[in-house]
Amino acid sequence: MAHPLPLAAAFAVSLLLLSSSGEAFFDIFNIFRPRSDSDYFQNAFDGSREPLPPTQTEHEERGAAPATATGLTRVPSSGPPSKAAADTVELAADKGGGPIGEWTIVSENSGVSAMHMAIMRDGRAIMFDTSTTGRSLMRLPQDNCRIDPRAKGKQEGTMDCWAHSVEFDYNSGCLRALKILTDTWCSSGAFDADGNLVQTGGYFEGEKVVRVIAPCDTCDWLEHPNSFAEGRWYATQQVLPDGRFIVFGGRRAFSYELVPLPGRTNDKANYLPFLRETTDDAENNLYPFVNLLPSGNLFLFANDRSVIFDHKAGKILRELPRLPGGSRNYPASAMSALLPLDLRNVTGDPDPVVIVCGGALKTAFRFGENNTFQPALRDCNRINLANNPGEVAQWESEDMPVGRVMGDMLILPTGDLLLLNGAAKGCSGWGFARQPVLTPVLYSPRKEKGSRFRALASSTIARMYHSTSAVLPDATVLVAGGNTNTAYNFSGVDFPTEVRVERFCPPYLSKELAGNRPEIDPASVPADGMRYGSPFTLRFHVPPSEAVGQGDVKVTVYAPPFTTHGYSMNQRLLILSVAAFAEEDGRRYAVTVDAPGKPELAPRGYYLVFVVVKGVPGLGVWVRIH
Ligand SMILES: *[C@@H]1O[C@H](CO)[C@@H](O)[C@H](O)[C@H]1NC(C)=O
Ligand SMILES: *[C@@H]1O[C@H](CO)[C@@H](O)[C@H](O)[C@H]1NC(C)=O
Ligand SMILES: *[C@@H]1O[C@H](CO)[C@@H](O)[C@H](O)[C@H]1NC(C)=O
Repeated sequence: MAHPLPLAAAFAVSLLLLSSSGEAFFDIFNIFRPRSDSDYFQNAFDGSREPLPPTQTEHEERGAAPATATGLTRVPSSGPPSKAAADTVELAADKGGGPIGEWTIVSENSGVSAMHMAIMRDGRAIMFDTSTTGRSLMRLPQDNCRIDPRAKGKQEGTMDCWAHSVEFDYNSGCLRALKILTDTWCSSGAFDADGNLVQTGGYFEGEKVVRVIAPCDTCDWLEHPNSFAEGRWYATQQVLPDGRFIVFGGRRAFSYELVPLPGRTNDKANYLPFLRETTDDAENNLYPFVNLLPSGNLFLFANDRSVIFDHKAGKILRELPRLPGGSRNYPASAMSALLPLDLRNVTGDPDPVVIVCGGALKTAFRFGENNTFQPALRDCNRINLANNPGEVAQWESEDMPVGRVMGDMLILPTGDLLLLNGAAKGCSGWGFARQPVLTPVLYSPRKEKGSRFRALASSTIARMYHSTSAVLPDATVLVAGGNTNTAYNFSGVDFPTEVRVERFCPPYLSKELAGNRPEIDPASVPADGMRYGSPFTLRFHVPPSEAVGQGDVKVTVYAPPFTTHGYSMNQRLLILSVAAFAEEDGRRYAVTVDAPGKPELAPRGYYLVFVVVKGVPGLGVWVRIH
């Protein structure tokens, strides 16, 4: 890991190379120097400033076209698919249950393969990869290269002129290059109360860094080095009721830390033996699953064990039963989420239920090293964490239609879950999986066991390692990324690096159901947002078809997560209790809901509020809960 000495040595080499190549002097020990506007705030959307042609050393790999005005290079051709690429898993869609959803391609080239993704409240997605995979397909604006602290002895690699992060307009497909100075490989993130993305850790020079990006057309990453006491590579970040963030684990980091304020440094981490106990020869406890419970305590799941953790006292309160069958965290990479918190008809806190589906055998990574791909786990398990007297928490298990590792699990605005991406064999790691599963599966938590899963329309694109997905305000799902190679490789590999971006329209958006689709009147949304425990009224209308009664209407609020490696950190959906409902005139309705009562239910921040009529959500609106 990055001990001060080798890091300093690498910088010293860069310094030598720079001064000998006659480049302008950089303060090597302060790669976080302030940036000027001309630095890289060039907005790729307006196209008014045509960049100069790329210099010789920046020339794209063979087969790629010259840079365009936006700094995007053409996707190299990839040749015929390999035998492994043709070996996919596709389930027959369950048409008996109604519409099956639909896939479209939003962009052929996002420039950067979306290993990490989050949706900002300004209508853009932030995507980023890692500088470890080298060149992306998007150049940084002119004269705006990054010093590569790992380019020891390679003069050409001293400056890294490729973007590793982009802002992606999911409606137009337009891109803006963003600049990250340090390596974000396998990092973590969450939104703060103002809707800024606060992103933590990564690899090498990036492992102790905290980075922040605000939602605006010219915003870029601001980085705070040496924030953490220990490196956070494959850690999980969770927002706490008081608005602070807690970060758990990471490779060889059996501890947790609070994210310090910008410019502050943690001098010590808090040891957590649970993280040491749950590691094994394949480190199957990375990216632990963390959820904030209504009690204010945290649920932590690592490998096959889970606990309730009191972060204020730094103490484990109880341990839940072990989940048998294999491992569930990276590299065994199962899917997990807190099921929707239903605030209707509850006195006190709703029961928190966590779900963990798929994953891999404990040996999958070791076998993967020998090019042997074990079947992914097929079981889906949930546990009620309410500590009700006389009840013992138990895992309740059932099988998914297909085994899945490295899948994504998103909570849709309706409260159903979408399971997508991933593979039926192998585990996380470069080249460690086979049989991409192309079929998303809908999971309806409120249905009876045995009838909860439904196979939907399949994609045509394999997305296994390093792929992501996200719920958008229009209730569709953005699906991006996927790179099982050590670089951006498009030929000579089984699965070319994926830069295409798709959108999945879930069944509820099919034309047959358009008559139910509610439309929130934006002017009716209180500008002051939602205050804890107060009533919140908005108005909506539906197309003039059938009448809508209170029983047809659900109001949900969704916390936008940060997604990477198949886990959506801080994802949560609340179903609010309707306090009043009235038809005003001509299929226009006013609905009053009770805001969540406390930040333990919904930490301060920007949420997407959806009105759902007869199972069909309308366009969500961003509302601040405070
Ligand atoms: C809540 O309670 C009311 C009155 O008992 C009932 O009509 C309604 O169906 C309940 N709603 C939910 C979502 O359980
Ligand atoms: C992988 O191959 C090596 C060398 O053949 C062998 O020693 C090892 O046991 C194998 N590992 C597994 C998990 O099969
Ligand atoms: C992937 O691309 C990198 C960088 O161009 C190259 O060094 C490497 O050999 C490629 N790998 C394969 C398997 O083609």
